[in-house]
Amino acid sequence: MLPPTISLDFTYIFILIFAFLLTQHIWRDPECRATIKKFLNKAKGAFDDHHGGGGGGGGFPGQQQRIPMQDGQSTIQPPTPADVTRYRYHHGANVGSVFIMEKWLTGSMFPEHAQGSSELAAVEGWVKQEGIDQARQRFERHWREYVSDGDLDWLRDHGKCTTIRLPIGYFTLGPPYCDGTAFKNVSNVYQNAWPAVKQLVQRCHQRGIGVLIDLHGLPGGANPQDHSGTDSNKAELWTSRSNKDLATRCVLFVAQQARSMDGVAGLQIINEAEYGAKGMYDWYDHVLGEVSKVDSTLPIYISDAWDLSKAASWSHGHNSLRAGQSNPVVIDTHLYWCFSDEDKRKSPQQIAQEVGGKLSSLDGKDGSVIDHGAAQAVVGEYSCVLGEESWAKGGGASKDDLVRQFGNAESSHFQQRAGGSFFWTYRMDWMEGGEWGFKQMTNSHAIVPPQSLTLSAGDVQQRIQHAQSQQQQRKQETVGAHTHYWDTSHPGQYEHWRFEQGWDVGFHDAMAFFGMRTQGGVDGGDKIGMMDLWCLKRLQESGQGGKFMWEFEQGFRQGVRDFYGCAGV
Ligand SMILES: *[C@@H]1O[C@H](CO)[C@@H](O)[C@H](O)[C@H]1NC(C)=O
Repeated sequence: MLPPTISLDFTYIFILIFAFLLTQHIWRDPECRATIKKFLNKAKGAFDDHHGGGGGGGGFPGQQQRIPMQDGQSTIQPPTPADVTRYRYHHGANVGSVFIMEKWLTGSMFPEHAQGSSELAAVEGWVKQEGIDQARQRFERHWREYVSDGDLDWLRDHGKCTTIRLPIGYFTLGPPYCDGTAFKNVSNVYQNAWPAVKQLVQRCHQRGIGVLIDLHGLPGGANPQDHSGTDSNKAELWTSRSNKDLATRCVLFVAQQARSMDGVAGLQIINEAEYGAKGMYDWYDHVLGEVSKVDSTLPIYISDAWDLSKAASWSHGHNSLRAGQSNPVVIDTHLYWCFSDEDKRKSPQQIAQEVGGKLSSLDGKDGSVIDHGAAQAVVGEYSCVLGEESWAKGGGASKDDLVRQFGNAESSHFQQRAGGSFFWTYRMDWMEGGEWGFKQMTNSHAIVPPQSLTLSAGDVQQRIQHAQSQQQQRKQETVGAHTHYWDTSHPGQYEHWRFEQGWDVGFHDAMAFFGMRTQGGVDGGDKIGMMDLWCLKRLQESGQGGKFMWEFEQGFRQGVRDFYGCAGV
């Protein structure tokens, strides 16, 4: 894997590179910078191997990449519509309090004397008040109507949503999944809940919107909060074998169902696991082993339990070249600045500034599948809410401006650094939701969609034609720079044809994602958002092997980048 020149001492290499940089002034050229970074990482890796260093592994086994020794057949096919649904940048929102009630969002679904603020409190209250049949009809109406066709049209046309995150509970899967749980006595309310989920997914799909099905409420609760389904204030998923077994069966049911559903972007198996949850990664490993037997292509989203760095290290073991038939794993991380006392002491400007530093625990963990496997994160929840204490520190600036500054910082950073982002939330009783509302924040331009989604179909076509006209020249330049850099700076034996092949795949994939909608005359162009996972998939399908496989990966990434450069997106 390492070019032969790297059996040198790290210090020496370091000096060499910087001498080179100073003489060539190439640090300003992003192409060379990427290559140098790559080389530095390799050199660092060699150094760490040699000197027993190499921190940041997180203590999870299986991060050592085992590269196939020999080349095989390529099975790369052009990206399909389903690939685009799963691997594009997800610009979206949580859909709201539809299948899991939260009183602060959907007070209208709580009877007057409800004993709490959770789904269970709402459903028990109605069953007591009007009987199980009436309650069932009430809930069915809510599932069917709370998000109207007009809402979905707005999400497509104005929100420019690619994807929504749809929170559901284990009870949503129907009475068999309520046995032995707190929902046992009210389970008949949920007879027709799962078909209602399927209907909503279909209504989204008809509009080109994908759905991330989010098992938000698991038996016992992955965290002690009411949005897990009950007011127990406990996270008893982690302490109960039977809860975990039931949770696993829920995941497998949805995965099985999703095989015949169009428009499923992924399956999130858990929401907001509590920090340090005991046995969490063991359960994830177990579920992933089981779900791969049902459908190993479905992206599986897990919660980082408020520790993105650890989750990223763990995910390498699954998103690995040698993992074979296993599901792509996406990390869901949540970013809020309105809850902790520490954040409340900050001004809105400080917080807007801070946004750009988030997700930095991915640094060194994504960007090179060959070195360590893929690490892919999405921001599954965020908002434009700050504490009143923070707004008060705005120094006289208008709140609208401060909100916009904060939201813009979030949108732009997430679009650069994450595979997607889902605002919390869209639908609630108090539309349009203030700083908790995707609709209001979009209308006030605090939350902004990626530029590529705002282009007309005609504009997308023109940009594709322009990119095609530049393709050959751009390829020559990039391949030339790569070849020249390695051959002159680190003379040795290479297999640069792999770089060229990777570049071709990357350029064409980026073009296919971008042009997918316009084939149906629909506005907007998608970009590859799940870059690390898509790259992993292409490496696995490429049939590439041997120690110069890294050239294919570099070429692939630069081909994608060059397409976007040519298309101006
Ligand atoms: C269900 O109802 C029975 C009989 O009223 C009661 O004893 C039991 O505690 C209830 N179970 C749950 C989970 O609420």
